[in-house]
Amino acid sequence: MPDENPGRTPYIAGNWKLWGTRAQAADYCERLLPLLFEADGRRPDVGLCVPYTSIETVATALAGSGVVVAAQNMHQAETGAYTGEVSAAMLLELGAGAVVLGHSERRQLFGETDRALTEKVPAALAAGLQPILCVGETEEEREAGDMERKLRHQVQEGLEQVDDGRLADVVIAYEPIWAIGTGKVATPDQAQEATSFVRALVGDRSRAAAERVRVLYGGSVKPENAGEILEQADIDGALVGGASLDPDSFARIVAAAG
Ligand code: PGA
Repeated sequence: MPDENPGRTPYIAGNWKLWGTRAQAADYCERLLPLLFEADGRRPDVGLCVPYTSIETVATALAGSGVVVAAQNMHQAETGAYTGEVSAAMLLELGAGAVVLGHSERRQLFGETDRALTEKVPAALAAGLQPILCVGETEEEREAGDMERKLRHQVQEGLEQVDDGRLADVVIAYEPIWAIGTGKVATPDQAQEATSFVRALVGDRSRAAAERVRVLYGGSVKPENAGEILEQADIDGALVGGASLDPDSFARIVAAAG
């Protein structure tokens, strides 16, 4: 990572999406652990975003390693008539330390709204979970020159109910939808431009928070392209989908951030 960001610890998070029975999760952790942090030098923060059913297995298997286990969604309420939903307290009890909120697949396929995220982000913080708020534009929006409008809306709504003093505790993942799972990675310049815009949006609320908040890039990150993405000044890490399913390639991406 570049020296321009001395205060921001790089963060590499693997997003398993719908993958990982408990048996697969345990096997994955066993293979990953010896591969992590082999090299000396700056250690990035590492997270694994796993299905609810594997949170406890992964938290147990990785206990003491410093790897944070994240859920991929949660409900903002503590209890209530919300069939099929899970609260922050339930996730904490399983050993989760973070939660992905507003992933584009939740937004596009499962009706996640910016309104709900306005409540979810502060609810996660209040409970002691680190929110990883995902934002990003579609290909049509980018082509129509609408990227900034979309990002502004998503960042402003997601952070609306977060106190200025806690803004930097939110991790924001910029994930252009056209680059997710498509193999079509954003160029380093495109990723830098958008992440720096996201940081500036946080700066509209608090200059100090903008300096400290970590902004990740996500979308077809692989060991082969991680280095050139991670060296961009405003990119503090990566949210990795497909390439995180292989412990070896995930560990190589972690190493690229060290
Ligand atoms: P991908 O997914 O790395 O497979 O493109 C990224 C994500 O959805 O977080």
